[in-house]
Amino acid sequence: MSKVTVVGAGFVGATVAQYLADNNLSDVCLIDVVEGLPQGKALDMMQAAPITGHDCKIVGTNDYADTKGSDIVVITAGIARKPGMSRDDLLKTNAKIVKDVAEKTIKHSPDAIYICVTNPLDVMTYLTWKTTKLPASRVMGMAGVLDSARFQTFIGMETGMSVQDVRAMVLGGHGDLMVPVTSYATVNGVPLSEFLSAEKIEELVKRTQNGGIEIVNLMKSSAFYAPGRSVVQMVEAILKDQNRLLPCAVYADGDYGLKDVYIGLPCVLGKDGVKKIVDIKMNDQEKEALAKSAASIKENIDLMNKLLVAV
Ligand code: APR
Repeated sequence: MSKVTVVGAGFVGATVAQYLADNNLSDVCLIDVVEGLPQGKALDMMQAAPITGHDCKIVGTNDYADTKGSDIVVITAGIARKPGMSRDDLLKTNAKIVKDVAEKTIKHSPDAIYICVTNPLDVMTYLTWKTTKLPASRVMGMAGVLDSARFQTFIGMETGMSVQDVRAMVLGGHGDLMVPVTSYATVNGVPLSEFLSAEKIEELVKRTQNGGIEIVNLMKSSAFYAPGRSVVQMVEAILKDQNRLLPCAVYADGDYGLKDVYIGLPCVLGKDGVKKIVDIKMNDQEKEALAKSAASIKENIDLMNKLLVAV
C-alpha cells in the first residue's frame, strides 16, 4: 500500500484522507498541530472501514516522525482569510506555516511528491518547491482540477446535460484572474458554443472565477468536498501512473512564455509527478489573460519573499 501524508486535519485535509481511504488508494498519515484532532478524525475514519470495506490504515499524529517514507505529501495546513484580514497577513501567516511544514516533511520523505493546497495556492506551491529543493516535476499545486470541475458543473447545469460528458479546463492562477479556456470546452467533443450563447458562456466564466467566494458567502467558511476530491484525483493519477492530462499549478520555465512562476497549466500526471507540460494553442484573449494572471502571481511571490525575510 502506498503512503500519503496529509498535513492539516481540517476540513480539506480530513476530506482528502476520507476519499483516499474510501477509494482504497493508500494508507494515510494525517498530521496537525492541534493535539487530538488528527488522532480523533483518523480513529473515526478507521471505524468506517468495516462498513466501507477498505484496508487502508489511517493514522492521526502530531509527530512528523510518523510521516516517514511517504510517497506523496499533501499540504493543506494554514488558515483561511477571515473578515478584516489583509491579503498580506494571510500570505505571511500561511507562508510561515507552509515553509515549516515543507521543512519538517522533506526530512522524513526525501523522495515524496508534493501537492500543495494551502492558499494563496500558486505562491505557496512555489514556496514548497523552494523549501524542499525537489525537482519542479515533484512539486505541484491543486487548483486547476477544482476550478475546472466548478466550470464543468455550471456548464452541466446550464445545458441540462450530464457533467460526465462535459470537458473544460481552467488555467492560470487560483484567483480572480484564473483563465477558463472556453475555446476547448465541449460537451462530448461538441464545442460549447453549439449549446450556449457567448453571453451565457461569459456568465459561467464569471461564476467559475467566483466559485470559491460563492460558497464562502453561503456557509461562511471555505469549500472542502470538491477541493478534497480534486486532490484525490491527482493522487490517484500519480499512484496509478495514469498519465492523466490535468490542469495543475506547475513550474513554468519558459512554457507559455512564462518564466520562474508556479501557475495552472495542462500537464501529464503520472508516477514521477509532472511528466510534461502540454502546450495548447489559445486565442489572443486567453493568452493575454494567462500573462496577466502570471504577473499577479509573480508580484505575490516577490511580496512573500520580502515578508519571509522580515519574519
Ligand atoms: N502544522 C500543521 N497543521 C497546521 C499548522 C501547522 N503549522 N497550522 C495550522 N494547521 C492546521 C490547523 O490546525 C487546521 O486543522 O491546518 C488545518 C486547516 O484546516 P481548516 O482551518 O479547516 O482549513 P481548510 O478549510 O481545511 O483549508 C485549508 O486549504 O483550500 C485551502 O484556503 C484553504 O488555505 C486553506 C487550506
